[in-house]
Amino acid sequence: MKHLISIDQYNYQSLHTLFEKVDKEEYGFIETSYPKKGQIATLFYEPSTRTSASFHSAATQLGYSVLSINEVNYSSVTKGETLEDTIKTIGSYVDLIVLRHGEKGASKRAASISQVPIINAGDGIGEHPTQTLLDLYTIWKEKSKIDGLNITLMGDLKNGRTVHSLIKILRLFNVHINLISPSSLKLPNEYLKHSDQESTQFLPYAATTDVLYVTRVQKERGSKEEYKLSLSELNQLPKTAIVLHPLPRRKELPITFDNDPRAKYFQQIKNGLLVRKALLRQFLENN
Ligand code: CP
Repeated sequence: MKHLISIDQYNYQSLHTLFEKVDKEEYGFIETSYPKKGQIATLFYEPSTRTSASFHSAATQLGYSVLSINEVNYSSVTKGETLEDTIKTIGSYVDLIVLRHGEKGASKRAASISQVPIINAGDGIGEHPTQTLLDLYTIWKEKSKIDGLNITLMGDLKNGRTVHSLIKILRLFNVHINLISPSSLKLPNEYLKHSDQESTQFLPYAATTDVLYVTRVQKERGSKEEYKLSLSELNQLPKTAIVLHPLPRRKELPITFDNDPRAKYFQQIKNGLLVRKALLRQFLENN
């Protein structure tokens, strides 16, 4: 794997191999290396907190320095520089580029001309494969399995790229999927399967849900309908269920649920650092 563009690049075996490596990161130590091993770039055309910061942190913990271009408005992009020229330029300085861009397919375009590995950190309404790897790792760690789970995906399923990547990888497993969204924000047909249950209502699915994955409304992509879960609705979930959210959140999950043992969205963030460390090792050190 020279670049990480789509979750389609993973299969059952390569996921298993990666998750074993992520487990090792959990019990590893913080490494520092002098002189530094090399440098990665985080090139973000759209805002980010978790993805940008966790790649930065993962790289520095492994002994790499980081060239951060998180505000492209202060770069030559504002003078009309193409994505391709920007990638060729940054790729002359660093060993790997983590790219977030507003257009679906931008990472694939970048990879087609890049001399260094490209990791897709979100491409418009396309995919967010490293988020999916940490989502799936969290499910696996918390539930000790993925096969057989009843998974409810709720929110802006039309424009949420984390859901698009997640649902693709869940197709590798024997899971039951419920899709809950306002009618204007339904999952696009390209990701649907005939066995999926679609609804605008959460409550009929609450009691049988093992994993609830909630996403925010993507206002920046034109989504308008708001939705939110109340504490009493969340309490209809089984005691053994887990609740995930890629964050950031708006109003869809109440902060009063944060201390509930079923709320695992801050654990997801911690797992994200481990997953990204394992990925950087794989791409930069071949292990
Ligand atoms: N989950 C996620 O991608 O968060 P950021 O937009 O903060 O990176």
